[in-house]
Amino acid sequence: MSAARFAILCISGPNLQLLGSREPEIYGKVTLAEIHARLDARAKALGVSVDARQTNHEGTIVDWIGDAPKAGVAGLLLNPGAYTHTSLAIYDALRSVGLPCVEVHLSNPDAREAFRRRSRVARACIGRVAGFGADSYELALDGLVKALSALPRQAGRA
Ligand code: DQA
Repeated sequence: MSAARFAILCISGPNLQLLGSREPEIYGKVTLAEIHARLDARAKALGVSVDARQTNHEGTIVDWIGDAPKAGVAGLLLNPGAYTHTSLAIYDALRSVGLPCVEVHLSNPDAREAFRRRSRVARACIGRVAGFGADSYELALDGLVKALSALPRQAGRA
């Protein structure tokens, strides 16, 4: 098989390891492992690679974002969970590395409680996919790969 066009890092934040059983009326019944498997299949179809991870720890997300450029990552998919609404550290990390990042949410935070309407990370992202349940991840991957493909060769390619 030919080499992947882009290496993409997908990060999911706190409580997303509980998908499948966590408030299924909001988040659906698909597990994070299933989401990662679907992402992998879509990545293969697009000719890219996706390294999909989850952590409950804000500092670990900051570490993974900070390490991404030297690991050859071309772009990020990021569902920061509740850190979306609070984390200046994750916002700063995204600004610091400058990699294209798509914010991902299973639910549509804008249609929920008022405190979910503010995203701290949005200004460091090229776009956002929210409200499509597990499909949000694959839709975000499609968008990110399109955006990376439109970048000049030296800036966008591994
Ligand atoms: C979420 C939305 C956040 O508001 C919430 O804190 C989550 C999940 C989503 O994917 O819909 O943990 O990021």
